[in-house]
Amino acid sequence: MKGVVLAGGLGTRLYPLTKVTNKHLLPVYNKPMVLYPLEALVLAGITDILIVTGGEWATDFARLLADFKSFGIRNLYFAYQEKPLGIAHALGLAESFVNGDKCVVFLGDNVIEGNIIKAKERFERMERGALVLLKEVPDPQNYGCPILDENGRIVRIIEKPKDPPSPYAVIGIYFYDPEVFSIIKTLKPSQRGELEITDVNNAYAERGLLEYEILEGWWGDAGASIDAWLRVNNLVAQTGANKLKL
Ligand code: TTP
Repeated sequence: MKGVVLAGGLGTRLYPLTKVTNKHLLPVYNKPMVLYPLEALVLAGITDILIVTGGEWATDFARLLADFKSFGIRNLYFAYQEKPLGIAHALGLAESFVNGDKCVVFLGDNVIEGNIIKAKERFERMERGALVLLKEVPDPQNYGCPILDENGRIVRIIEKPKDPPSPYAVIGIYFYDPEVFSIIKTLKPSQRGELEITDVNNAYAERGLLEYEILEGWWGDAGASIDAWLRVNNLVAQTGANKLKL
C-alpha cells in the first residue's frame, strides 16, 4: 500500500503564521507538523510515500526531509500542485505514483494520538472500495458528518450539516482502491471551486463500497484554526502522538 500526504493549500485560517511558510512546516510541539502524518504512515508499515505540496515553500520540504531514511521512509516522492484546487485534485496528482496499488491518504495537518494499524489491516482484507476513519466530536456540524443506516453502514456524508445526522466527523485519513483515480476524473468543482474529497467518498457510498473504522485516541486538525493548532500542540505535549498502544 502506498502513502500520500497532502500538504498543499493556502492555510489561510492560520494567517499570519502561514504568510511566510507552508502550514505543514509550522511546529507542532517539538516537530514540524508534516512529520506527524509521515510518522503515522511509517508506524503502520507504509514506507513508500508521496507528498503533494505547492506554493512558494515547496522546496523547504525537501530540505526538511533530506534524511528521510532516518525517519523509516523507504522511498519519498514529491508532486507539485500548481493551484490549491482541492483535496481530491491534490490526490489526483498521485495517480502514477500509486500505479494501481491501494493507497492511504493523510491530510498533512491531521495529528493522531494512536495509530492506523487496525484500519489498514481491515482495508488490506477488503477486495475493493474505500475506508474512512470517524471520530466522535462535540461539533459534527463543523465537519463532514456521516449518515448511518440501521445496519451502521454509511449511506452518505454531509458537509457541515446544520442538523448533524450522527455524532461523528470524517477525519482526514482515507483508504482507497485504485478506482479512486477514475472517480476523481468524473468530479466537477464545488461552489468554492474545489474538487471535494467528500464527493469521492460519496461516490463509494453510493456503490455500497464505503466502510469505516472509529479512530481510538484523540484526533486533531491542526490547520482548522489557531485554537485548534494550539490544542494539538498541547495534546502532543501532554500525551505524545503516533503511539502503538494507547
Ligand atoms: P484545508 O485545511 O481544507 O485547506 P487549506 O490548507 O488551504 O487551509 P485554509 O482553508 O485555512 O486556507 O486542507 C486540508 C488539507 O489538505 C491540508 O493539509 C492541505 C491539503 N490541501 C492540498 O494539499 N491541496 C489543496 O488544494 C487543498 C485545498 C488542501
